[in-house]
Amino acid sequence: MATQNGSEEVRGLEGVVALSSELSSIDGEAGQLVYRGYDIYDLAENASFEEVVYLLWNGDLPTASQLDTLKSDLRAARELPDPVIDILRQTPDTAHPMAVLRTAVSALGLYDEEADADSPEANRRKATRLLARTPGIIAAYARLRNDEAPIAPLDEASMAYNFLYMLNGEEPGRAAEDTFDTCLVLHADHGLNASTFTSRVIGSTLSDMYSAVSGAIGALKGPLHGGANREVMRMLLDIDKKGADPTEYVQEKLANKERVMGFGHRVYRTMDPRAAILRDRVQALSEERNATKWYDYSMAILNTVKSEKGLDPNVDFFSASTYYMMGLDPDLFTPIFALSRSAGWTAHLLEQWTDNRLIRPRAAYVGKTGRTVTPIDER
Ligand code: ACO
Repeated sequence: MATQNGSEEVRGLEGVVALSSELSSIDGEAGQLVYRGYDIYDLAENASFEEVVYLLWNGDLPTASQLDTLKSDLRAARELPDPVIDILRQTPDTAHPMAVLRTAVSALGLYDEEADADSPEANRRKATRLLARTPGIIAAYARLRNDEAPIAPLDEASMAYNFLYMLNGEEPGRAAEDTFDTCLVLHADHGLNASTFTSRVIGSTLSDMYSAVSGAIGALKGPLHGGANREVMRMLLDIDKKGADPTEYVQEKLANKERVMGFGHRVYRTMDPRAAILRDRVQALSEERNATKWYDYSMAILNTVKSEKGLDPNVDFFSASTYYMMGLDPDLFTPIFALSRSAGWTAHLLEQWTDNRLIRPRAAYVGKTGRTVTPIDER
């Protein structure tokens, strides 16, 4: 829209290049996602989440000994401060788990003596603490709201394995660990998405890492961003409960001008590669278990939205059925996304602070002008 001062609004900042980053790149036409030069298909197949964290934070994949050091740093940092557990205990059972995570991450900053220390080394230590503690927050809250005691992590296990263990109180199989680890790899970073942009804007004021990540969690919570995965599962469950035909269900939504969650993307003009990887996972899980209901519903929806609107699925579409088939509660889907994306948010903050400049765009003013104040008793 043209404005009084001649500046032009770019709605939703579409296509605007706000900064440079070495972390990840997206080719929206080709459906390609790359972390630091490595294609997401390669990483999903051949790297663990911890290796990807190292890659994002340091620029290269780790050697075996570098990976051991990262794992032992994460292990040493993961215990939650008691007051943070107390906050989780006092949180209502009905709270939105993303609101709980946002509050708990913010509270972590209160109990970190280095919260406002801004050396690169201190920021790196905080990134480690923040990432290491996020799984414990989500799992502890999920248990406490069901009147179950939080469970301490196992010593040697991966983050994926330990999260599932802390959540369910039983050791997951290797297949569940592998699927969950792949999900963490896929969600770790994604260019200048809304929550990452939020974290960099906050970081650019030279505020601290806990403030920036709390803000990012707030942005991710929204259903147009990470909150969509929970909405996708709600839709699938609703179809199932009503015994509806998924094609007709979605046709009706579109006819009512409603959005179908898990479809469309600001950057991709073809299938999100993360959705393609997860589609194959859901298909494999369904065939293994001889229970293809969620996959069948999902494919019927995919075909309908594609033919009626020309839209492709994004990462949230198939992550929903993947997590559900792993027995995870739908309202934990977005916190799990946050757990993985904490790697990306913190990597972006470390990058932002290597060459910081305040991020401060302009608004095109389209309001009234030239008014004068009438005394209050004459209005
Ligand atoms: N269902 C139905 N129609 C849609 C959808 C959808 N999911 N997404 C876009 N459209 C339509 C819009 O109605 C609009 O149509 P119109 O031109 O006829 O009005 C057109 O496509 C363009 O939509 P915009 O909202 O302008 O596209 P934008 O780039 O702003 O939005 C977004 C991207 C927010 C992801 C959008 O596609 C959407 O709302 N999707 C559903 C929510 C979702 O899945 N979010 C997760 C995204 S991935 C992530 O954040 C992890």
